[in-house]
Amino acid sequence: MNALSLELPHDINPKTVPQHVALIMDGNGRWAKQKGKMRIAGHKEGVEAAKRVVKALSTAGVKYVTLYAFSTENWKRPALEVSGLMDLLMLTLKRELKGFMKEGFILRTIGDIEQLPSSTRDAVKEVVYQTNENTGMVINVALSYGGRWEIVETTKELVRKAVNGEMDLQHIDENTFSQHLQTSGMPDPDLLIRSSGEKRLSNFLVWQSAYSEYVFDNAFWPDFNEHNVWNALRDFQGRKRRFGTSSDAS
Ligand code: IPE
Ligand code: IPE
Ligand code: MG
Repeated sequence: MNALSLELPHDINPKTVPQHVALIMDGNGRWAKQKGKMRIAGHKEGVEAAKRVVKALSTAGVKYVTLYAFSTENWKRPALEVSGLMDLLMLTLKRELKGFMKEGFILRTIGDIEQLPSSTRDAVKEVVYQTNENTGMVINVALSYGGRWEIVETTKELVRKAVNGEMDLQHIDENTFSQHLQTSGMPDPDLLIRSSGEKRLSNFLVWQSAYSEYVFDNAFWPDFNEHNVWNALRDFQGRKRRFGTSSDAS
């Protein structure tokens, strides 16, 4: 099957695919090491995997995809790897803009993008601006993102509003808190997928993933393709989400 004729397998029900899928794209470095390549070569292949996965999720009818591309903790990596990742991000966004317009994708970001080098930040802002009026799938990229950072920033904003008298303390609840997070307006992820066999959140969507279903896949991210996506969707559709209710509750 070539990339153009991607079809949702018949055993996946298009009516019950998750609305929002979040992905921790992990294992680029180990993939590269295994092949005797530089880490950045793994990141480059990781971009190809992200494109395959986005295409598969769009084919499945998923409305929101959040991709963990760079965490607040990833700034601790060697400068060469960080700058390589930032350049790769800039080039990828510039190259993919046309395709985003064709598919109707909307680019959004979460994270402290002011920390990014200006060339990368400008490319991000440009694609966010250009795709703003599209009506298709939302591709939300987490950049210099940390779940704890986001919760602290949200708390500061709510305290500021309370102190200024813009918001009543009694009116701060889980809903208002969610509405002040960077993911405001997006549903919480129904399904969270992590590649490379690691089974941890690594400071991703700490608040939003409270009731997500988790799928851990052993494949390194650069090897990810539509089949890994179909398997995760099958796994998701086989689960019973209870949200704390009794198992026989409707
Ligand atoms: C994920 O792959 C990409 C980023 C964190 C930017 P890694 O670079 O973490 O790959 P491993 O975990 O070292 O294999
Ligand atoms: C999580 O992967 C961050 C991204 C995929 C961008 P890491 O490789 O940074 O996470 P840890 O260090 O293994 O927890
Ligand atoms: Mg990693």
